[in-house]
Amino acid sequence: TTFRILAISGSLRNRSSNTFLLRAAAELAPGNMIVTMYEGLGGIPPFNPDIDGDEPPASVAILRAQLQAADGVLICTPEYAGGVPGVLKNALDWIVSSGELMNKPAAVISASPSMTGGAKALESLLLTLKIMSAAIVDGGTVAVPLVSAKLNAAGELTDDATAQQLQILLDALAQKAKID
Ligand code: FNR
Repeated sequence: TTFRILAISGSLRNRSSNTFLLRAAAELAPGNMIVTMYEGLGGIPPFNPDIDGDEPPASVAILRAQLQAADGVLICTPEYAGGVPGVLKNALDWIVSSGELMNKPAAVISASPSMTGGAKALESLLLTLKIMSAAIVDGGTVAVPLVSAKLNAAGELTDDATAQQLQILLDALAQKAKID
């Protein structure tokens, strides 16, 4: 069996270290895992329950469909002021009512140039995902500190220890996606 993983970066930045890490993860993924990058985060409108009816915004419908079709999700987030970037939280707020993350195998990475690796955002994101009933994978969380030193000018991951951590996380995610 093949597993389809939807990868979501919490940063809209062109040269986002979090997006680069997800690209690295896609290359490190086991052979039976297909990692697709979600590209629509910047187009998700501000969440408003009043417009979350039978005909949600097209960008939201696409996000929901991509989550629905995925066997698991892999989110990589920066930390903004000690929390999850608004754009990412905003997108997740659209999913509370529709429920595509319920029982969905999920792994979470945070990355930051700081020593903490965005651990506060990671923890906050985990709380949100748990409340949304996502199936957080055992061993499926990694905080990557000092990330700027672990990517080269082309955005490639050059740190072997981090690559190994990502590989373990991906294996755990694949295992969970297989069982579910
Ligand atoms: C940051 N940054 C940051 N880093 C951190 O470790 N803890 C924090 O609370 C914050 N807060 C914060 C707020 C804002 C508005 C910005 C723009 C940045 C630094 C952040 O980790 C750094 O810019 C990363 O490179 C962002 O991730 P991407 O865009 O490289 O994926």
